[in-house]
Amino acid sequence: MKGYQYLDENGTFSLKDPELTGYLYFPLANEKGVMASVTPSLGGDNKMGQNTFLLAPVSSEELHDKKGTRNFWVNIKEKGLWSAAGASAWQEAGLFSKEKDKTLLMAGMMWHTVKRTSKEYGIEAEITSFVPLADTLEVMLVTLRAPFEDITITPTAAIPLYGRSADNIRDHRHVTSLLHRMETVKEGILLNPTLTFDERGHRKNEVVYGVAGSAEAAPHMEGEAPELPAGFYPVIEDFIGEGGSLINPRALLEEKEPVKAGFHKDGYETLGGIAYETCTLKKGEEKTYIVVIGYGKSKEDFLSQAKPYLSKAYSEKALAEAKKSWLEKLNIKYHTASKNFDAWMQWVDFQPILRRIYGCSFLPHHDYGKGGRGWRDLWQDCLALLIMNPEGVREMLWSNYAGVRADGSNATIIGTEQGEFIADRNNITRVWMDHGVWPFLTTRLYIMQTGDTGLLFQENTYFKDPQAVRGEEKDLLWKAEDGNSLRTEEQAEYKGTVLEHVLIQLLTAFYDVGEHNHMRLRGADWNDALDMAKERGESVAFSALYGQNLVQLGEMLRHLKEEGMEKVSLLEELFILLRNEEELYEDGKAKAELLHSYCDKVRHTVSGRKKEISLSELAENLIKKGNWIKEHIRKTEWISDSEGYSWYNSYYDNNGRRVEGDNPKGVRMMLTGQVFTIMSGIAEKEQVKDITAAADKYLYAKELGGYKLNTDFHELKTDLGRMFGFAYGSKENGAVFAHMAVMYGNALYQRNFIKEGYKVINSLYSHLSDFEKSRIYPGIPEYIGDNGRGLYHYLTGSASWLLLTVLTEMFGVKGDYGALLLEPKLLKEQFDEEGKAEVSFEFGGRSFAVTYINREGKEFGEYHIGAAALDKEPLGNEAEKFVLSREAIQKLDSNSVHGIRVDLI
Ligand code: G1P
Repeated sequence: MKGYQYLDENGTFSLKDPELTGYLYFPLANEKGVMASVTPSLGGDNKMGQNTFLLAPVSSEELHDKKGTRNFWVNIKEKGLWSAAGASAWQEAGLFSKEKDKTLLMAGMMWHTVKRTSKEYGIEAEITSFVPLADTLEVMLVTLRAPFEDITITPTAAIPLYGRSADNIRDHRHVTSLLHRMETVKEGILLNPTLTFDERGHRKNEVVYGVAGSAEAAPHMEGEAPELPAGFYPVIEDFIGEGGSLINPRALLEEKEPVKAGFHKDGYETLGGIAYETCTLKKGEEKTYIVVIGYGKSKEDFLSQAKPYLSKAYSEKALAEAKKSWLEKLNIKYHTASKNFDAWMQWVDFQPILRRIYGCSFLPHHDYGKGGRGWRDLWQDCLALLIMNPEGVREMLWSNYAGVRADGSNATIIGTEQGEFIADRNNITRVWMDHGVWPFLTTRLYIMQTGDTGLLFQENTYFKDPQAVRGEEKDLLWKAEDGNSLRTEEQAEYKGTVLEHVLIQLLTAFYDVGEHNHMRLRGADWNDALDMAKERGESVAFSALYGQNLVQLGEMLRHLKEEGMEKVSLLEELFILLRNEEELYEDGKAKAELLHSYCDKVRHTVSGRKKEISLSELAENLIKKGNWIKEHIRKTEWISDSEGYSWYNSYYDNNGRRVEGDNPKGVRMMLTGQVFTIMSGIAEKEQVKDITAAADKYLYAKELGGYKLNTDFHELKTDLGRMFGFAYGSKENGAVFAHMAVMYGNALYQRNFIKEGYKVINSLYSHLSDFEKSRIYPGIPEYIGDNGRGLYHYLTGSASWLLLTVLTEMFGVKGDYGALLLEPKLLKEQFDEEGKAEVSFEFGGRSFAVTYINREGKEFGEYHIGAAALDKEPLGNEAEKFVLSREAIQKLDSNSVHGIRVDLI
């Protein structure tokens, strides 16, 4: 088996025999809410939400286990029945032919083509699937050809229409089929369930599902109406026949007559079964069959959306538009020594867009949740989105702050509208201690990219529900009718600046400490599966990142002061958290008490009164707190094992015990604590060296793509988290978990450990792009399993961090309060044979293409910036960094691409 090949620089690729690899799936979606997945045999599913599945939901195991696919049968005279999707019992078993069908997959952003040729049946089929931009539909263009001889064919599309909530896959699967009302019209089949039975109760159904079909011979006369179906097989039971199945359909094997338009049937499972006229294709001829499946608000709505696509020209135009539109969203292009890496990065860049659409549910591995994303994912996906598509990001960031509670925790159920947060109906009071750390990280990147410090002073509301004191207590006075925003004693809606929201998040965290004076782990941190140390667990790893946030926010305030700003006003109660004595910092108990007294004050309402504080005082206060955290970790958590390796301990368990270091069951080391002590600068230069040596010794697995999340604890550690229940080497228990691995790479780059950082990113890339090992299409998955397979492809926060790392660290394209900074950290091997490396991107509303020229082939560390030119005009002198001021950028024309050439000498 060979891997895939890229066909162009946009990441379009082809793969031979794709069906010979298990668990492959590909996303097809649009911004209208259609979310589909498709496999090489056209399995997968299609839905618009948890309660609206057109095709039955699939998890990874159903990718090979389910017989109902987007099947397309062809009865070939004198040869027999053949599936153009390869989904027949005899094709699957390889029984029908001495020679396997030749298959080839081609795919690009949101389109998927499989070509299948059978010598024995004398036929070739090419099936392109896509989701048009403008409608709630999925379109299949099936072109049948007679490459070897004349053939007489009778095609039939056979796609089971599920038409209900994912809940019903087990819960009332049969009863919900009794709700089905199906009918045939001249274009296709409509499925209109009477009611829906799901978590919302029993309600009148409002979605009509349907399938429509047509055919067009080639050449096609302009203006000629497409051929409509010859008949229909709308009832699954009748189609499969007694003892038959969807991969062995007796109706077709026995050549049963299809029904005509005007047929009605109530209470049966529906098949999108479309029978086409028999026709003869002369050798070399082809004919295209179109199958449209989708959703409408009514029968008329579905049909009026679907009908235009029954014309091949219209569908092909829609396909071309979809292809163009998705590619336009990818406005970062890379050029390095490896063309394959550059193309692979296009898929990585596409992934944050996919996660915005699919949330963390709705692809086969992501078989949990009901759509939407969690709080941390929301903020981290913004990292990539703000780089690729800065417009609208300010609004998005600002509106997300409405999810923060006055106690520094936040709403975790995110509504469908931007900035909409919903109180947890199940009253789950889980608080993730890392949640407060991401908003500032993302907001800071935004401000650095744009220079828009004004965002910090825009006001927004706070979230309010019955949860109080960071999930530990309740606000018994709160009633649902009060709504979900925080009020003052006078019942007015309270608003504070974005800065105030950030301060509340960071300062409450500062005081929220456990026995070792590190921040409490609470419900978990980034590692969702560290969820069993609620009482006594502590996360040193995220304390480190909070420390860094406090320092960086302080520095940002100093910058504002330099720009002439003097004071800010903050909620009066917040001043409780601005105490500034060293003795208090050292006293964990006193800190927890102070936090409680603050949380108690803001439990039900706030005063609404604001007090002023000078920027310099506030900045100094924050920096002192941040540095105290850093020093505390440095002093207490640097550990060594008996073999002489040293690194930072990341956690304390629910028995108050340090987690890492020597252990009778084997050395225990976790990556998370290393990432954030490096990123925050807690680890001194020498310590970073020690950490990388320890990580190489205990966590690095070349054959699995790099750095594992932890060593094997050989223990079901119920005083830390459910992760220890997962098999070692999977998910959060010791897999190469891409998100943390990429952040490790990022941290190393930030600290100028370039070779080490590159090793992290390159081992991931090399493994993932080796299809024989990773067995996934291009892109980055959530993790790499112990057998090397990539799992949970596409919907992962690692994509955002990788894009960020490649652009801002490797290529060194950074923002500095709206100025453009170039600080390349490329290794010699990353420059092409002419010594060039290029990247193009948007910045400050302008398009740039930066070319680094390393003519002498110098290694990183040996080169520095020599001459630089903007649009061929020489700029500046030798320097470490290149800076283009915000003012200079604003003077540039916004309609053309500005070339920056940087000579490295
Ligand atoms: C997933 C979750 C993320 C969580 C991580 C570790 O990572 O989406 O919120 O922090 O698992 O538990 P992802 O798939 O985004 O890489």
